[in-house]
Amino acid sequence: METMTAWNRNIPFFEHEIKPLIRGQDIKILEVGSYQGASTRWMLDNLATHPQSEVWCIDVWEETPQHEGADFQQVEALFDQQIASHRSKVKKLKGDSWSQLISLNNRPSKPEFDLIYIDGDHSAQGVIQDLVLSWPLLLEGGIVVCDDYVWKENLEAWRLGFRDYGSPLETPKMAIDAFTLIYSNRIHHEIPLQPA
Ligand SMILES: C[S@@+](CC[C@H](N)C(=O)[O-])C[C@H]1O[C@@H](n2cnc3c(N)ncnc32)[C@H](O)[C@@H]1O
Repeated sequence: METMTAWNRNIPFFEHEIKPLIRGQDIKILEVGSYQGASTRWMLDNLATHPQSEVWCIDVWEETPQHEGADFQQVEALFDQQIASHRSKVKKLKGDSWSQLISLNNRPSKPEFDLIYIDGDHSAQGVIQDLVLSWPLLLEGGIVVCDDYVWKENLEAWRLGFRDYGSPLETPKMAIDAFTLIYSNRIHHEIPLQPA
């Protein structure tokens, strides 16, 4: 099972690239894919520090192809433990991101977020769905971060027929490339890819 420490490699990026871009104090963050709550906790401690800030967390908290064999009762219990000291700032939305994002979009007073962090289903189809459905929930000038742009795949090797590498359909890169291209006239600034 992936452990909490997997999040740690992302901290320098969030600290140095994302934190300085956050405007205002009482910010609203949407996280798609919260797992054990390591990223959620870091954002609560470091970005959503204002008492009025909120972090909305979407996760199925059940076994998916990416987390086969994980004990999700334990994973969810760890999430609850991680956020316990900030409970009033967290909105926990348990369910698949497709239904949860559609339901947020359909709310009469649709929530709007300063920062959206996409780290749920890592398949290309999952990522493109999460990006398209969360985009209308982003405030003008808001920030979207996608995790694992390069993850498990070697596109060139796959094109050449080496099937020991993960299929590009199972990883986020193709979805992020397509989304940033299709939405390019609405994306104002891209932070270059960060080394893993
Ligand atoms: C990589 S983990 C998230 C890690 C977390 N952001 C961190 O850095 O600590 C991915 C999470 O996405 C969730 N997930 C996968 N597919 C999902 C879906 N379709 N809808 C909602 N959550 C999903 C999994 O249950 C898992 O907890």
